[in-house]
Amino acid sequence: MRKLLPVLLLVAGSVASYAQSARERAEELVSKMTLEEKCTLIHGERGDAEYEDGFHIMPIPRLGIPAIRMADGPQGVRNKTNSTYYPCGISLAASWNRDVAGKVGEGIGLDARARGVAIMLCPGVNIYRTALCGRNFEYYGEDPYLASETALHYISGIQSKGVMATIKHFALNNQEFDRHGVSSNADERTINEIYFPAFRKAVEEGNVACVMTSYNPINGTHASENSWLIKDNLRAWGFDGIVMSDWTSTYSAIGCFGSGLDLEMPRGYVMNYENAKRLLDSGVIEESWIDEKCRHILQTVIEYGFLDNPVKDESIPEDCDISRANALAAALEAPVMLKNNGILPLKKSTKKSIIVLGPNADIVPYGGGSGRMDPIEGRNITLFAGLSGLGKGYKVELMDWKAPDYEKIRKAGAVIVAAGFNYDTEGEDFDRTYALPEGQDELISKVAAANSNTVVVVYSGGEVDVSPWIDKVGALLMAWYSGQEGGTALARILSGKVSPSGRLPFTFWGSIDKNPASANYYLSKPYENRTSKRYSKRFSQYPFVEYGEGIFLGYRGMSHFGVEPMFPLGYGLTYSKFDYSGLSVEPSDGGFKVSFTVTNTGKASASEVAQLYISAEGSSVIKADLELKGYEKVSLDPKKSAGITIFLPKEAFSHYDVASHSWVNDPGQYKIMIAASALDIRLSEIITVD
Ligand code: GLC
Repeated sequence: MRKLLPVLLLVAGSVASYAQSARERAEELVSKMTLEEKCTLIHGERGDAEYEDGFHIMPIPRLGIPAIRMADGPQGVRNKTNSTYYPCGISLAASWNRDVAGKVGEGIGLDARARGVAIMLCPGVNIYRTALCGRNFEYYGEDPYLASETALHYISGIQSKGVMATIKHFALNNQEFDRHGVSSNADERTINEIYFPAFRKAVEEGNVACVMTSYNPINGTHASENSWLIKDNLRAWGFDGIVMSDWTSTYSAIGCFGSGLDLEMPRGYVMNYENAKRLLDSGVIEESWIDEKCRHILQTVIEYGFLDNPVKDESIPEDCDISRANALAAALEAPVMLKNNGILPLKKSTKKSIIVLGPNADIVPYGGGSGRMDPIEGRNITLFAGLSGLGKGYKVELMDWKAPDYEKIRKAGAVIVAAGFNYDTEGEDFDRTYALPEGQDELISKVAAANSNTVVVVYSGGEVDVSPWIDKVGALLMAWYSGQEGGTALARILSGKVSPSGRLPFTFWGSIDKNPASANYYLSKPYENRTSKRYSKRFSQYPFVEYGEGIFLGYRGMSHFGVEPMFPLGYGLTYSKFDYSGLSVEPSDGGFKVSFTVTNTGKASASEVAQLYISAEGSSVIKADLELKGYEKVSLDPKKSAGITIFLPKEAFSHYDVASHSWVNDPGQYKIMIAASALDIRLSEIITVD
């Protein structure tokens, strides 16, 4: 054996040198690159070549570095392709089902590989502050824990197929109105407790490949050139992947070169060779900063194997059965039933018809902007098509909502009004109205006056003003933008084949002014109304919005502000009902093991989302009234029970301490609550945390 040792060491050494780490390979490549090649790598390009479309990392053929294609999500693979259209972000959050989020991620990963896309520009995780943000539909609602869990599983799904996910928009991009120009001003504790968690969990647990910075300034400095954001936080969390800018969200060369931004998209407005040469010659920046950018980019591409292997997987069809099935599974779990006077599920009636009308009755709606999908021919199922597919016993008729026949409506067995928004009234780069678009309130009120069996289905990314008609209609379902399979899924839910199982991922206040964040949503300083175009000049003082509600966002501030919403976070009706029993809270592994039983005491199979909230009892530190720290969704047949156990880690009882810039535990008494929503506590127990 002793004689073999030198040989073994030699072999091991050569294997080790052969199996260079991704970082070592990247560093070696960078060491061979010219400054011009480095500056080519750190931005996209617009030009004639196929990869100069503003959605590629540029190639360096001399060194065998291929062009790397990226595409938007989060609702599916877009940019120059038709693809499976999945339920939008808020749908996944509304499902309260981690597996559903993961399956959508897997579907998108397959669709990306089938098309040669290496980087998906999703998920979007910006927190829902008020209903007005045009991109709430792409994100995961108001609670940082629910958003973190949904994002983690979605990212894991995408990356499990060998595709890089990009979590966005880092950070505090919570409005679309003048998104380039309005600074999001918030205190450090609020940022860390509400706005960072989804990003941080994606880095620390999800090993997310890329992060996209946001358009907006944060406390006065644009995200793409904000060292506090990128270096003192993101990199400090251990992130060693690619930091890319949002498209056209770069403003100064010195800011971007110096901030830790790696990749300027869609092209090199500021991080280009001319600026690099000028700033290097004047000693303002160092070439090692550019080397670091190139290393992050190449190291990540190498880790995913795309320096050595093709991205496109010929074995995966572009119109993939698994993708469609995953889209349907998510669409079945997302709709939230907020009202039902017994009209649902729709009864089979051989004689009476079901009338469907409204702007979204026979189209598949989308949120607008970069998240809008181009579906595969024939794959979009509208609500009317889905209901028509129910077959015998259901006579379904589509009516023109611009010329309703109220006589027919009066005689119908039921009337479904498909209301809400679409890409032209809700989407990126503008905020939306709280009220439904023109004419819809009147339509709903008149239909309900003619037939009490009126069901309203709302397609939106968040709360809408239901006050004009909520007391007049028989049922209300929030359908979000539920993708190509949404019509099929809603038909199954409305007909009772499947019980609705979604729960609100945000607080539904019932009036925009009741939401404490509304007072802090519009600009704190009046200024001339600017559109969100690129600015050539810098403003001495950005207009800004102050996150004055702090950590008391949404349900976390109901008691603090003394306001009770129309429907709380976590609320949603099913076709059954559930009981909770047998709570036990045991110390375990530094935290607590929380166990209890849920029983379906109703007559229909359905799913319950058991939610775990905590509240500090007499803490010396000011804390939110209520904090979501766990949830589990269970499907149960009538009379069946399920035992549920949720682990509460010690970190659940901490707050972010600004003095030490770190999380600190808060010992003391806490109430552990098991709930069916933030206002429906079923079981509770007081515990002491050391
Ligand atoms: C858009 C969006 C971002 C998207 C990117 C590429 O402006 O803000 O979410 O991924 O540009 O389309």
